[in-house]
Order: sequence, then structure tokens, then C-alpha cells
Amino acid sequence: MPVPHDIEAETELWDTFAESAFKDDAEPSFCWTQYAGHGPGPELLGNPRSVLEIGCGTGRALAFLARSGVEAHGVDLSPVMVKKCSERWADTGATFDCGEVLEWLADCQTTYDAVYSIFGAAWFTDPSRLFPLVAARLNPGGVFVFSQPPAIPGAYGPQGMYKGGFAGKAMFTYRYSYKPAVWERHLRRAGFTSVEADVVDAPTPGHIGTLLVRAWSAA
Ligand SMILES: C[S@@+](CC[C@H](N)C(=O)[O-])C[C@H]1O[C@@H](n2cnc3c(N)ncnc32)[C@H](O)[C@@H]1O
Repeated sequence: MPVPHDIEAETELWDTFAESAFKDDAEPSFCWTQYAGHGPGPELLGNPRSVLEIGCGTGRALAFLARSGVEAHGVDLSPVMVKKCSERWADTGATFDCGEVLEWLADCQTTYDAVYSIFGAAWFTDPSRLFPLVAARLNPGGVFVFSQPPAIPGAYGPQGMYKGGFAGKAMFTYRYSYKPAVWERHLRRAGFTSVEADVVDAPTPGHIGTLLVRAWSAA
């Protein structure tokens, strides 16, 4: 049974996040994990001419790719975040759209060499609806890569999560958590021909690792 996403309420929540997470003095940077400088880098995207980041947040990863000559486009639910990104990263050539990822992808006519999410929309969106839409926007041989925290053992599927404390107005999102083998099954079902899902260990033993998933469309 699908969870009842309230996109208007989620937009308000992410607008609040944008006000605190966006730092005007931050520089472009690209990291799949929650630990700066840890884990693999943009090479996981192959050598793309064009990329789409879904749930691009602060836009730092897109700015990094745009500066290295990639045609870099992002979509994010938060109008506040998209306004900040569009102004801050204008000189890099990265471009940004505001939209809910499922609606935006359903309307999109462009295809990309790579689509990716770093703790972004792939974490907050039902994979059975998202993955077929992503697959349709990839060029032949294109890659879809995403990272996010691994599932907590025994807690699988959509996980409701309050934001901003447990008193006052109820603000919450849903995050989607599965074991790596289940992510792989979702991706194959969406038409990806080759898939890999693993957990990258944290730099400190016993700390939270990072789920890293890659899927390729047929060449
Ligand atoms: C944890 S933050 C982004 C992390 C990002 N990698 C960064 O560096 O800022 C998650 C982002 O996903 C966006 N998001 C959440 N649900 C979304 C949806 N359904 N469609 C598009 N964007 C979404 C939020 O607005 C937010 O900016």
C-alpha cells in the first residue's frame, strides 16, 4: 500500500532545510558519502557529457561537474533551494529546475548519460515509481547512481520520519530503505540490465556506512 505523500507539506519542510543547509560560502564538491573526502568520487558516473541530479539540494555536486565541463542539470522540490542554487552556481553553467521528481521526470523529454542522487530524491521517493521514470531518461548504456544511509536492520520499506523535533507542527517525510539485494530487484524490474548495490564502510569502524547503488541501461 503506497504511503500518502503530501508534497505541499514536504516542500515546506525542505524549504526550511534549505534555509539552514545552504551556505553561501560553500565551494563545489562531490562526495557520495556523508564523510567529506571519503569513498569513491564522480568516476562512478563514467565519463558523461550530460548529467541529471535528482533532489540536488545545495547543488555543490552539480557545480563541481559543470566546472569540469559536464552539462549539469538538477531538479529539486524546494523553491528556496533552487533559487539559492541558481544564483550561487550561475557562473559554473549548472542549471536547476524546481519540481517534484516523479512529475518532473514524467514531463521530461531530455535524456542524459547519467542520472544520480546523493542522499537526494532516490531516498525520498517510492522506487517502484521512480526507477522506471529514471530508466526512460537515460541514453543507451547510461548509468543511474545513488547513495544514502543503509537500512536499519529489520526496518524496510517507507520509513516515516519527523523533522524539526517532536513538538509543534507535524512535519515529516518518508525515506525508502531496503537491503542491497532488494534495491537490485527494484532496478532490474524497472528495466536496468546490470545492477550493483553495496554498503561502503565508514572511515571509522562501527560508524554508519553508505549504501551505494549503480545500475546501467542497455547499451
Ligand atoms: C538531504 S537533501 C540533499 C542532499 C544533496 N546531495 C545536497 O548536497 O544538498 C535532499 C534534497 O532532496 C529534495 N527532495 C526531497 N524529495 C523530493 C522530491 N520528491 N522531488 C524532488 N526533490 C526532492 C529536497 O528538497 C532536498 O533538497
